[in-house]
Amino acid sequence: MTKSIAALLLIFSYGKGILACKEFEAFKKFVENRLPFDIVIDGLNVSHMNTRKMQCENLFNAVNYLAKKNTRLLVLGRKHMLINSSNWKREIVEEMQNKADFFFAENISEDDAFLLYATLRSGKHCKFVTRDFLRDHKACLSDSLTRHLFRFHVTGIVCFRK
Ligand SMILES: *[C@@H]1O[C@H](CO)[C@@H](O)[C@H](O)[C@H]1NC(C)=O
Ligand SMILES: *[C@@H]1O[C@H](CO)[C@@H](O)[C@H](O)[C@H]1NC(C)=O
Ligand SMILES: *[C@@H]1O[C@H](CO)[C@@H](O)[C@H](O)[C@H]1NC(C)=O
Repeated sequence: MTKSIAALLLIFSYGKGILACKEFEAFKKFVENRLPFDIVIDGLNVSHMNTRKMQCENLFNAVNYLAKKNTRLLVLGRKHMLINSSNWKREIVEEMQNKADFFFAENISEDDAFLLYATLRSGKHCKFVTRDFLRDHKACLSDSLTRHLFRFHVTGIVCFRK
């Protein structure tokens, strides 16, 4: 695990100079100013949890459920969530923002690297939440990290080719 974190940090430091993903830089700044988080939430993923509900409702329920006193939540959202629509009601999106820090990425960007970065920078105690995690509390953090580590390599290539 320590090795893969080191490898990741290496990839991220390469990311700074070579990949030059502007949005990732903005996200890093955002995160560094607010560290540490206790829980990092994949907002888009969680919003698809229950298909019978509005996406914002699913996310709202997750944020409400996880938000406790002195718990610092980071939700990685997408910019399209800020446009009032049938799935993303403005009133609900605004209310969620009182309970968690939100970073709204472009709707097209890969967000795995963002989630990983915020989770790793926050330290060992920080939990990374997808809908799998919410469904099954026994979900193992290192498993989901490994999964996302693999996916990050793909993200890195996509980023590089831009
Ligand atoms: C949400 O994450 C799970 C794994 O944690 C993945 O299987 C699923 O495809 C993701 N869904 C979306 C919409 O990103
Ligand atoms: C991203 O969101 C904007 C605003 O809703 C929309 O105009 C655009 O088509 C979206 N792009 C993609 C690739 O979904
Ligand atoms: C958002 O859209 C809904 C209809 O979908 C409307 O009732 C509501 O007033 C709108 N809110 C804002 C702040 O525009």
